Amino acid sequence: MPRLIDPGSPPPIGLEAAIDRLVAIGFDSEDAAAWDAAAPILAALSADRGFLGDIAVAALKRCDDAPGVYGPPVMMLSQGVGNWLLRANLWPAETDAVLRASGRRAFFYDLPHDHNFSFLTIGHHGPGYESDYWEVDALPLGHVGEAVALRALGRRRLEPGTMLLYRAHRDVHAQRPPRAFSVTLNLMEASGREPWRNQYRFDTDAGRIAGLLNVTAIEGLLPLAAHLGGGNGADLLHHIAARHPVDRIRFAAVRALAGAAEGAAARMAILEAAARRGDRFVSAGAAHVLAEAPAVLRWAGQRTPEWTHKRLESHPIPA
Ligand SMILES: [Fe+2]
Repeated sequence: MPRLIDPGSPPPIGLEAAIDRLVAIGFDSEDAAAWDAAAPILAALSADRGFLGDIAVAALKRCDDAPGVYGPPVMMLSQGVGNWLLRANLWPAETDAVLRASGRRAFFYDLPHDHNFSFLTIGHHGPGYESDYWEVDALPLGHVGEAVALRALGRRRLEPGTMLLYRAHRDVHAQRPPRAFSVTLNLMEASGREPWRNQYRFDTDAGRIAGLLNVTAIEGLLPLAAHLGGGNGADLLHHIAARHPVDRIRFAAVRALAGAAEGAAARMAILEAAARRGDRFVSAGAAHVLAEAPAVLRWAGQRTPEWTHKRLESHPIPA
């Protein structure tokens, strides 16, 4: 369960003053001990009942439609001052037009997920969303389909004035629409590491990783380089597959190389080499893909290479 924090009842302060105070205390979102000192500042901002409406009204008067700054679910309040950001999250109710138009997925409702960043949140307006909560002690390698020990912790509503600290890679939740339109204020880690750290969605019934929620632009470029980049592209992909510091990217490079290879045998040879390489994440991922290969080859009328079976014995698929 996210950590419940009592920030006290500080007098209200405006947005600029809140930003100044966060700067003054040297708030460092990568320091796990720093969140408690920031909590009263976020609570003081939430105690200012007028600032958020004033920002919305001023933006409407300017006909402000700056892309990426305001969207239906999020209003950015401060970004780029330190390794953190301040934002307001909007939580429509079941009956709100925006939810009926965009669907529940647009607001992450009913989607069990963790976070690849830590953040403080406070119920600022409305009755607050409800969440079912789970906790993970240790994530597995991180491949889709892997089993995860999720500890169910029940349901809780983020009531007005309640403050929670969601811990990166530990707290898992699935939100449900609030009874009426609600708003939370969030102070979030923005250290720049987030794109490289995995955020997952989970199948909580099966206790497995159901998918990855964050994908970087590089993962879209890898297949392009593999298919259209010629020799330079192939060289670069081999380098990335061997040297990139993020295991997810190394494995994506292997898959891109395999996907662009001519014929099933060449594709499997690339995966086989990856499975033998001793790179824990990449080898397990390659083994996982190869595990499905015999059936695919049978379907394609090709002979299953002997080494596929030997490899499966030495590289078991993650449980
Ligand atoms: Fe969340």
